Formats: sequence, C-alpha cells, structure tokens
Amino acid sequence: MNIKELQKRFEIPGLVSLTDGSGDLPMLWVDTQWSVAEIYLHGAQVATFQKKNEPALLFLSEESRFEEGQAIRGGVPVILPWFGARDGDMAHGFARVKDWELKATSAGKDGSAQVVLRLPDSPEMAKWPTPFAAEYAVTVGKTLKLELRIENLSKERELVLEECLHTYFEVGEIGSVSIAGLKGVEYLDKVGGSAKKTETNEVIRIASEVDRVYMDTTGDVEIRDAKLKRSIRVKKEGSQSTVVWNPWIEKAKAMADFGDEEYLKMVCVESGNVGRNKLTIAPGKNATMTVELVTEKIS
Ligand code: BG6
Repeated sequence: MNIKELQKRFEIPGLVSLTDGSGDLPMLWVDTQWSVAEIYLHGAQVATFQKKNEPALLFLSEESRFEEGQAIRGGVPVILPWFGARDGDMAHGFARVKDWELKATSAGKDGSAQVVLRLPDSPEMAKWPTPFAAEYAVTVGKTLKLELRIENLSKERELVLEECLHTYFEVGEIGSVSIAGLKGVEYLDKVGGSAKKTETNEVIRIASEVDRVYMDTTGDVEIRDAKLKRSIRVKKEGSQSTVVWNPWIEKAKAMADFGDEEYLKMVCVESGNVGRNKLTIAPGKNATMTVELVTEKIS
C-alpha cells in the first residue's frame, strides 16, 4: 500500500495521520489530548513519545539511520525472534528491520489512539522452525502502552523464541538516574563475560558500561531522574526478563549510528523474555507481553 492508500484507510482526523517520516519511511503521527507519538511501519518502531507538559520520554539518537535493512537507533525497537548475537545472522532478530503491515487504527473512548501492526511474511519468517504470527498494539494516551502478541500457528510443534521491547529512555543526565526494582534478582553481566551475579543494590546507578540481563523478574521497574524531576514506571505483564543497558564512552564511540556523547542522555530498560526465560508456546496457543510506561513528576 502506498502512503495515499494508507492515509485513506487508516487516518483518524485530528488523532492519527500518516506521513513520510525521516528517510521518507512511512510514519504514523499520533496526537492525543495528552501526548504525541511517531510510529514507523519500519520495525513497528515507536520512535518518539512525549506527554504535552513533559520532556520526551523516549531517546532517539541524532545519528540514527532511517533506511531499509537498518534498525532505528532509539524509541522502542521490537526484538524478535531472538535476542542478542546469533551465528551468521543479524543481532536482535529480523523484526526490527521489516516493514510491518498496518492492520488497524482506532480511537479509544478516553481519547487515546491505538495502532495495530502485524509482522509481514518474509523468507526469514518462513525459515523459522515453527510458523508464528506477531501482532503489536500501541496505545498512545496518558501513558504509552505496548502489547506484543505472539501466536503459534502450528498444530503440532511448540514455538520457541525470544522477544524484547528494547525501550530507550531519555534522561536528563545519566549520573542523576537511579533504577529501582531489581534488588535480589539474578543477572548475566554481559560486560564481565556473561558472569552470573545477583543484584545487591536497592537502586542501580550507572557510571560505566552496563549490559545486564536480569532473569526471572516479573516486577515493575522505576527509573528516577533527579535532573528531569521525573519518575518513569515500567509496568509489565507476561515478561520475565529485564535488560539494563548503557554503552558508555568507548561503545558509544564505536557505534556509527549513535553520538559520542549520547550515552549521557539515555538508558535502556528493556522488558522481554530472553535467554533462559525464552518463550515456549504450545501448538495453537498464544502469549502476550504488555509494557506500560507511566510517568510522574517528582521533586
Ligand atoms: C542490548 C544488548 O539489549 O542491546 C547489548 O544487551 C547491545 O549487548 C544493545 O549492545 C544494542 O544492540 P544493537 O544491536 O541495537 O546495537
């Protein structure tokens, strides 16, 4: 469908419009009474979300690429069907570089807007051992709500995969950020060669490269940002893993699509089912992961 056809079918005057975004990639522009958001069909990626009386919630790199075959650096990449590196394949799965199909847009009674996208068929999908469908509903309103539903289309085989909503948050200054909700949780420390450790701190502070996969954790996480005077609650359901990532100085410099100083302005707190928490879905069944981002002013 070209942009004109998409506009005709999916626009909701005053609430949802379709336009060419960066790199001329098709993008939904959502404007509700509380917030605005940009959602690309490329990767089904929510690139920006901002409440009207607040700074941006999501970090989007100024160096991000907006090109076919490349992931957008920032917002909420949808990581599926594998997380991290994979032999002979791109990192973090193919879903983030596919152009998702727009299935529906709708207005909620409360003034919110919902956009539903579907992962398209592709050679990579066809190669996956068990056929599956992925549908992603994004609700923009007072909060940003993300629901990823995976369905096992096989009648005989189990479906096994990893998924992660790789959320990049914008922060005032990384040194003023504390992350609560993970004390006592076991994690893989990807910076220390994937050693298994247990979080002993009440709050996590970031002063060097951090790349941790927290496991068997279903609880909410709170990001407190003393500089922006904002608390972000990452509320999740159907997710057993939380990943915390900041590339710090050297990695930031090494990434072509990330500014050298941008590590100071972001942190990723990702909700997913990865590693030993990977999803196993019985034949014909489905599983939904929901993430809701709720912000509050703090003093
Ligand atoms: C995080 C991983 O989720 O994503 C990190 O834990 C990785 O190891 C980061 O570096 C970014 O990945 P990518 O593929 O988008 O550069």
